[in-house]
Amino acid sequence: MAIRKVGVLGAGTMGSGIAQSAAQNGYSVVMVDTNDAAVGRALDGAAKTWDRGVEKGRLTEKDAEAAKTNLSASASIDDLHDADLVIEAVFEDFDVKATQFRTLSDIARADAILATNTSSFRVDDLAQHVAEPGRFLGMHYFVPANINKLVEVVRGERTEDGTFAAALAFAKATKKEPLACRDSYGFVVNRFFCPCVNEAVRLVDEGHTQERVDAVSRRVFGAPLGALTVMNLSKARIAMNACRTLGRLGAFYEPCAGLIRMGEADAAWDFGDEPPADDAADTVIADRLRGATYLAALELLDEEVAEADGIDLGAFHGLRWETTPCAAMDTLGPDETRRIVDAVAALYGRETPRSTARAGGFLAG
Ligand SMILES: NC(=O)c1ccc[n+]([C@@H]2O[C@H](COP(=O)([O-])OP(=O)(O)OC[C@H]3O[C@@H](n4cnc5c(N)ncnc54)[C@H](O)[C@@H]3O)[C@@H](O)[C@H]2O)c1
Repeated sequence: MAIRKVGVLGAGTMGSGIAQSAAQNGYSVVMVDTNDAAVGRALDGAAKTWDRGVEKGRLTEKDAEAAKTNLSASASIDDLHDADLVIEAVFEDFDVKATQFRTLSDIARADAILATNTSSFRVDDLAQHVAEPGRFLGMHYFVPANINKLVEVVRGERTEDGTFAAALAFAKATKKEPLACRDSYGFVVNRFFCPCVNEAVRLVDEGHTQERVDAVSRRVFGAPLGALTVMNLSKARIAMNACRTLGRLGAFYEPCAGLIRMGEADAAWDFGDEPPADDAADTVIADRLRGATYLAALELLDEEVAEADGIDLGAFHGLRWETTPCAAMDTLGPDETRRIVDAVAALYGRETPRSTARAGGFLAG
């Protein structure tokens, strides 16, 4: 089906960015939020972004005016009755989301596609609260959603082909890079990045300095920011909760003692100067961070949640890593990959996926 009118439910950090990205790419967008202040902030923020775009020569005045005309806001969910696609971005609370999807099922057009931007719930669990699960899926944007190109387009068990294709086409039409994946806890990027952050904290727990761990994580993944710096930005509590969600997949994913301590206190790392190189310590840290990240990536491949290109696309656009997991395993070769991953898997009593074909062939040979 052709998507022309888009509804965004929730106009907070994510909803406002998603709405902006759709409006500036020609879609008519209605944002709905029960909080008037959030709606005001979202409309003002979008107008300011577009005005700045004109000042900096990134946008013509005509395009900025068109984007402003495309974007409207309301306090009533009833105003989503004629949207072709509704993207839900309300609080990360299962009951709140479930209630909204039951209401949306009653008021939305019979052929509308409903999507959730949830970070931690399974699409299939939310699908229980949607009247037509064939027209339901996940569209997981990354902050800032008006700028970051990545969207995980998450296919639930019952998502129909046409729904999935329409969501992928919509993401591309809004100049995003869609990462097609199947429903699974943490989807793709969180599934491998959370273990990376968790392992980084565990290395500090074991006595390595936070500065060294952060610097090595930056170097080993070719990242603009180290894993612990990202944790500061996204907040320790969120990192802890994300690891708790993934903990359903086994002890390897559960937050370590340091992450729980910091998450519960909502503490942040206070970095000093970067330490001088210490080859032995740097190698230990690099191997552990790569091992944790690649183990999760191999599991994603083995479970057929995503393909190697998708995992790398997620790392590149979602985290701005130059050294993406699957390309890196390809470069390392099967023996070195197995050595690094097996060592981490053994620490947590986990098996490295053995089916080399399903694990992308990275362990073959
Ligand atoms: N912040 C991130 O980095 C990030 C990234 C990806 C996905 N997400 C997910 O996106 C969703 C939204 O997160 P956020 O960071 O934008 O939260 P937020 O708190 O900034 O915004 C949520 C908005 O939803 C509104 N809201 C709550 N209940 C509502 C209802 N019944 N009807 C209409 N509006 C309602 C609130 O008033 C608020 O403005 C969550 O599911 C979150 O997990 C967040």
